[in-house]
Amino acid sequence: MIRTERLTKVYAAGTEAEVAALRGVDLEIAHGEFVAIMGPSGSGKSTLMNMLGCLDTPTGGSYHCDGTDVSTLDAEELAVLRRDKIGFVFQGFNLLPRMTALENVAMPLAYTGVPAAERAARAHEALASVGLANRESHRPSELSGGQQQRVAIARALINRPPVLLADEPTGALDSRTGEEILELFRRLREDGHTVVLITHDAEVAAHADRTYAMHDGELHLQGAPA
Ligand SMILES: Nc1ncnc2c1ncn2[C@@H]1O[C@H](COP(=O)(O)OP(=O)(O)O)[C@@H](O)[C@H]1O
Ligand SMILES: [Mg+2]
Repeated sequence: MIRTERLTKVYAAGTEAEVAALRGVDLEIAHGEFVAIMGPSGSGKSTLMNMLGCLDTPTGGSYHCDGTDVSTLDAEELAVLRRDKIGFVFQGFNLLPRMTALENVAMPLAYTGVPAAERAARAHEALASVGLANRESHRPSELSGGQQQRVAIARALINRPPVLLADEPTGALDSRTGEEILELFRRLREDGHTVVLITHDAEVAAHADRTYAMHDGELHLQGAPA
């Protein structure tokens, strides 16, 4: 589903501020796998996630998403790939504050040609699947952190993408709420999603098929389960 070869990312190349954030990352994730990535702050985890989510382009190496070399796609084709294949969940939720939960979840359907009534119905269904059917007219400020993250997860799933990328989704939550969110990811994995999760929680990582550690832009396998 995901394959990177010698993926590199250099920020501000050729300047004094140059940073080699990724140094030759090889990563292969099969359909339906649950992979965790750990590592200290500044090690390149978000940079890698942004590449996998096609939110940014690498400086070197290759990335194949579901068999497609993403470097061959133009901006429009990339947007379509992102929409159809990838759901992205951020640490800071990234919800639109003036929209209701239902409107936030329906957002990715806005330009897909899906009729308004069906958009609302699907957003309702997605919110129900994360246990928030009774909160659909609330704005983000009227929801707890855990509820906001569940809205963000429902939004990420609205196009039924096979891949779910989550960059420290529990980083802004207390540990009990974080546990509920992680339970949701485990369920998504059981539903057949491919999940890539960045986390600081070693216990979570223990539930993954594989765990990688990122250090200084290099990715290393931490150990497969027995
Ligand atoms: N947009 C950017 N411009 C310049 N440097 C960046 C940018 N984003 C990240 N970096 C640098 O790249 C390195 C990796 O950052 P990041 O991927 O955010 O790490 P992590 O998510 O593991 O904390 C850091 O040294 C960071 O300062
Ligand atoms: Mg980060």
